[in-house]
Amino acid sequence: MAAAVAVRTRRLESGRVGHVGPRRLIGPAVPPPPRAKRPRLEQLEKEKALELRKKHVAPSLGLHYAAVKPIKVAYGRGQYLYDEWDEPYLDCINNVTHVGHCHPKVVAAGVEQMSKLVHSPGTKMADSYTQQLLSTFPDNMGHVFYVTSGTEANDLALMIAETVTGHSEIIVIDGAYHGHSKPLVGLSSYKMKEKDDSGISPNPHAWIASNPDPFRGKYADPATAGTQYAGEVKEMIDSMEKEGKKLACYVCESFPGCAGQVKLPEGYFKAVFE
Ligand SMILES: Cc1ncc(COP(=O)(O)O)c(C=O)c1O
Repeated sequence: MAAAVAVRTRRLESGRVGHVGPRRLIGPAVPPPPRAKRPRLEQLEKEKALELRKKHVAPSLGLHYAAVKPIKVAYGRGQYLYDEWDEPYLDCINNVTHVGHCHPKVVAAGVEQMSKLVHSPGTKMADSYTQQLLSTFPDNMGHVFYVTSGTEANDLALMIAETVTGHSEIIVIDGAYHGHSKPLVGLSSYKMKEKDDSGISPNPHAWIASNPDPFRGKYADPATAGTQYAGEVKEMIDSMEKEGKKLACYVCESFPGCAGQVKLPEGYFKAVFE
């Protein structure tokens, strides 16, 4: 969306009228819908929705482009979000829809499953999925937990780490986002930096290592950045042990998103693990 908005603004500033849609930039993923003659409204017109939101939705739910032109997203297809007038916006914000919005295969699989049984752990479907998952695991990993959100998964991972190790300290990387429960917000430095006055406090057991970014970070040589960043993690473990504390776990996204869509340097995880 950011990209699309920037393109539009430039065109208008240059005095030329008209819209440069993302289709001109990277081509359509699926055929665009016919333009709406009347706004496609889920329930409320944009102005009314904004009024309602201002009055009744907690301000912690930020509004994108509030000062310029908030977008009322009506639906999504592939890499685009569309407003109520079928205006397309290239979605550069969403990091969760890995195969694009409303991918027909994903939608069909969801509909098929919901027409049989809404999933719960312990059913036959979970059994066959467990087999599929296990076939991708290394030999020393053989257990699966089913949860319904990233926050729940990370909370559970912290509990397991603390129970198994009997320790409490946690290393995370700068700029990370790990979820919205209290312990996880406290481990997500991205959240704490964003809202200094929100009362969000760091998890007292958090140790924040450098974001291992080989592009914008302090170590840029691809041959050594992985071991250099991992060396900082080792130093951190040494420091906590000097204070009489011990590591329960190290947590890092496989492709840190909020920290800048970081492609981690070669060998980083292996060196951290060792
Ligand atoms: C890296 C990462 N961890 C955790 C979460 C939290 O997941 P959920 O919103 O499903 O609780 C997200 C959500 O965007 C995420 O991107």
